[in-house]
Amino acid sequence: MVKVERPIRAVRSYVRREGRITKAQRRALRELWRRYGVDLAQEPIDFAALFGRRAPVMLEIGFGNGEALCELARTHPQNDYVGIEVYRPGIGSLLLKLETLMLRNVRVICGDADKVFAEHVPAASLDAVYLFFPDPWPKKRHHKRRLIQPDFVACVARSLRPDGCVHIATDWQDYAEHALAVAAQIASLENTAGQHDYVSRPDERLLTRFERRGQALGHQVWDLVFRRVV
Ligand SMILES: C[S@@+](CC[C@H](N)C(=O)[O-])C[C@H]1O[C@@H](n2cnc3c(N)ncnc32)[C@H](O)[C@@H]1O
Repeated sequence: MVKVERPIRAVRSYVRREGRITKAQRRALRELWRRYGVDLAQEPIDFAALFGRRAPVMLEIGFGNGEALCELARTHPQNDYVGIEVYRPGIGSLLLKLETLMLRNVRVICGDADKVFAEHVPAASLDAVYLFFPDPWPKKRHHKRRLIQPDFVACVARSLRPDGCVHIATDWQDYAEHALAVAAQIASLENTAGQHDYVSRPDERLLTRFERRGQALGHQVWDLVFRRVV
């Protein structure tokens, strides 16, 4: 496989923060990681071995507290779901939800998605990638911290099976335009809405607390879906 020959960028798309971790989240990280967590090894991830079956694999980058990921997994038991997040309280929250709902089709990776994609996700192994409300890094001098960069999106495109899709949602117009411009540089991705355009909100994307808060503040949301064509 697959190690992508590119340097992992030094500038991170997130700020390391532990926030306030609750007792329950701590307990979940301690007791449930064995069941749902993926400890990354040198080798690329073997999704069929991870889930014990061959099913479509969908991956969410930066799942926050896991609301959307859980709902997708609950309503699509025929698919397998992987979430990547750096924020441990959020991972703890997701683990608690997985335990309560007794979901068996979700696995969790704690780490930087940039590195995980470059070093661990095999080419043509995913059926969908979701990136819902990535940190927009609005100030110009911080744009380099945005997760959506040409190298990263090329890497995500490579991880998709032919016809697989990457779905991005953002409530920051400048970031939506940035995502359009970056994806347009990747020859293997086709904008399903036609060039320079957005799709209407897909039904399957859950309205999360994050988005509801934005709606209350009058934020608009832009959804972008790109398909792997070659
Ligand atoms: C604005 S929040 C959105 C959370 C969630 N998707 C939602 O819609 O509620 C962005 C999330 O992405 C995570 N994140 C940022 N950079 C990341 C990276 N490189 N790898 C994994 N997660 C990342 C952050 O920790 C944060 O939880």
